[in-house]
Amino acid sequence: MGKTIIISNRLPLQINISENDLEVTPSVGGLATGLKSFHQEGDSIWIGWTGLSAEEIPDDMKESVQEEARKQACIAVTLTSEEIEKFYYGFSNRTIWPLFHYFMEYTEFDPEHWEAYKQVNQKYADAVLEHLGEDDTVWVHDYQLLLLPDMIRKKNPTVTIGFFNHIPFPSYEVFRTLPWREEILQGMLGADLIGFHTYDYERHFLRSVNRILRYDINFNAVNLSDRIVKVDSFPMGIDYNKFRDAAIKHKKQPRSENTDIQKKLDYHKYVTRDTQLILSIDRLDYTKGIANRIRAFGYFLEKYPEYQEKVRLIMLAVPSRTNVPQYQLLKKEIDELVGRINGQFATVNWTPIWYFYRSMPFENLIDLYSASDVALITPIRDGMNLVAKEYVATRTDNTGVLILSEMAGAAHELNEALIINPNNFEQIVDSIKLALQMPKEEQVKRNKVLQRRLKRYSVEKWAQDFMQNLRETVNTRNEFKTIEITRNIKKDLFEKYSSAQRRVLFLDYDGTLVNFVDQPESASPDEDLFRLIRKLGEQENTRVILISGRDKETLQNWWKNSPVEIIGEHGVWVRTAEQEWELTENLDCSWMETIRPVLETFVDRTPGTFIEEKNYSLAWHYRKTNPELGDVRANELSIVLRDLISNHGLSVLQGNKVLEIKNSGVNKGKAANKLLDEKYDFIFAIGDDWTDEYLFTELPEQATTVKVGMNKTKAKYYMNSVAEVRELLSQFLSLTH
Ligand code: ADP
Ligand code: G6P
Repeated sequence: MGKTIIISNRLPLQINISENDLEVTPSVGGLATGLKSFHQEGDSIWIGWTGLSAEEIPDDMKESVQEEARKQACIAVTLTSEEIEKFYYGFSNRTIWPLFHYFMEYTEFDPEHWEAYKQVNQKYADAVLEHLGEDDTVWVHDYQLLLLPDMIRKKNPTVTIGFFNHIPFPSYEVFRTLPWREEILQGMLGADLIGFHTYDYERHFLRSVNRILRYDINFNAVNLSDRIVKVDSFPMGIDYNKFRDAAIKHKKQPRSENTDIQKKLDYHKYVTRDTQLILSIDRLDYTKGIANRIRAFGYFLEKYPEYQEKVRLIMLAVPSRTNVPQYQLLKKEIDELVGRINGQFATVNWTPIWYFYRSMPFENLIDLYSASDVALITPIRDGMNLVAKEYVATRTDNTGVLILSEMAGAAHELNEALIINPNNFEQIVDSIKLALQMPKEEQVKRNKVLQRRLKRYSVEKWAQDFMQNLRETVNTRNEFKTIEITRNIKKDLFEKYSSAQRRVLFLDYDGTLVNFVDQPESASPDEDLFRLIRKLGEQENTRVILISGRDKETLQNWWKNSPVEIIGEHGVWVRTAEQEWELTENLDCSWMETIRPVLETFVDRTPGTFIEEKNYSLAWHYRKTNPELGDVRANELSIVLRDLISNHGLSVLQGNKVLEIKNSGVNKGKAANKLLDEKYDFIFAIGDDWTDEYLFTELPEQATTVKVGMNKTKAKYYMNSVAEVRELLSQFLSLTH
């Protein structure tokens, strides 16, 4: 088995240059802290950015930067300051980040930033391709690299790619506002498996794919013409043992070894024995709801004045994305708010808020988690929130209460926390009171349940689960029963074709020889197709028969000057080479009077759908309506029709976004068989939808049957696209010239 290549914008290590020396610190943020243990334990390399710009690294230090990265099995991608400005501060953090967190008023749509985003994604893709070995697995992370999976797939179609999005995926109504929505979705769909933290994000993504790209969704899989992409939710865990062990060590540690922060905390406990501590830790980000949290704390002191001097909020905010204006404004707002609350409530012995604006080493985080009676985590939106989980895990005596926003992905798992709506101040302050008063037994009971979950679904388990699902998805791709027409299969097919005495080709039209279009009437054959079909038919001992569900008038109109034979309306009509149309069966159509009004009611209730009237069938098309509504109505209509058509010798065909009602004695397979009047030693049939399955099953066993697209089929082979079909037919032609 090959290695895993992890790619994220930021590496787990942050490099700074100070006085000609490299300073290496761990990166902050859920992605880096969470994935680090997976990386340390497995056979992987990690490609990403160190936080330095190309201009900041003197030529003679370039190698040492790579060397520092290599020590942690990392490869540094260098970004220029312009790329950092437009890709990182620009498109990633002024477009995607706010939009995906529902901060539409902060979202900028700048084409220059989009260009930079594409370029930098390509830069990362090139770095991956440079290190990609056979059997390697690629695991791409997060919103800065949404285009990467497809960029890698384009260069290496068979590679296994996983993608994990660490932030929310917004609802379709929000996502659709993005001018580059199609490209972003296509970029992500380059992966074999796409993971999200929660089921909601997964559904939002699938809905956007369905509505915007109009791909069919089958439960949690997206059916592309040549691949299936699986989409699933995997709530990221933490390195439980690391936090737990650190907390146990912290508890046993002799006083002399305590950190300065711990000493300050101890002193606080000593002088104000009955003052409880509330902890708040985040990157300084507007999604984290820090300003509201401070306001709520102020309101708590007002509403429950008995808690003044009895409670303290320790607020740790880590500097983040400081070049983005909203982050600068937020910093100012928080400084002011802290000042105001402290000014309003402080006494000689007591400051209500201790505020730190900096990053802290791991030991200090453990100091804070261990010392605090309550953790108050109230993001407005948060993909997951690992701080909440880390707080729970470090509580070695199982005390401590977690107050958690329902808008954090983590809230779906941490049911025993006090879950609040971050916009509901009354609920927040009452929960603070409840938390401060919660009896020890109750705290322990809740914490034990939470810890059990965190221990079981650790970050290690999360990564294993994702990887296993990725492998399974790729195996299913490889086990797909119908075989793709590869070069070797083509070789055999060409030999058979060349040596055959009598050949017959049945060619479906829509979705096989031409691509689908929104207006069915505008899918007329192009010049190239005319020429191809005519030349194929002119070959000696070769019969070419177009076989389509279209009505005979349209087919006649399109192919009037072409000597091709045609089977129309799914087998009702046959046109000979002399251009005369004959009925294959004598059919009674009186049923149409009953069925048409039923279809009309569905058209009225489902905007964008319409009825196509053929001579012997009625079709209800729903390609242009909202895809979800279309599927629901199609289901409904099938049920209504099932009752209506019983005992009338009718059947309902489910085509590609069309339901067609017709006499059941007729289908493409029966009609094709009727034309097999002589002995043929090369029978070839190709089609793309459900109606062609009759053709695949009813033709003699020796027929070569081919499905266009990767859906389930009775055909022996499949091909990926209309372009490939046309190429194959041209190759048939060249064999006899
Ligand atoms: P986000 O990914 O949005 O930053 P998370 O809560 O998921 O939020 O992850 C934050 C991670 O950063 C946690 O693993 C936490 O331990 C770490 N972290 C948060 N604050 C600090 C800090 N001041 N110093 C060091 N690490 C921090
Ligand atoms: C969140 C994102 C990560 C990001 C981290 C820190 O966790 O999901 O992709 O790395 O925040 O943000 P930064 O912009 O400093 O990388």
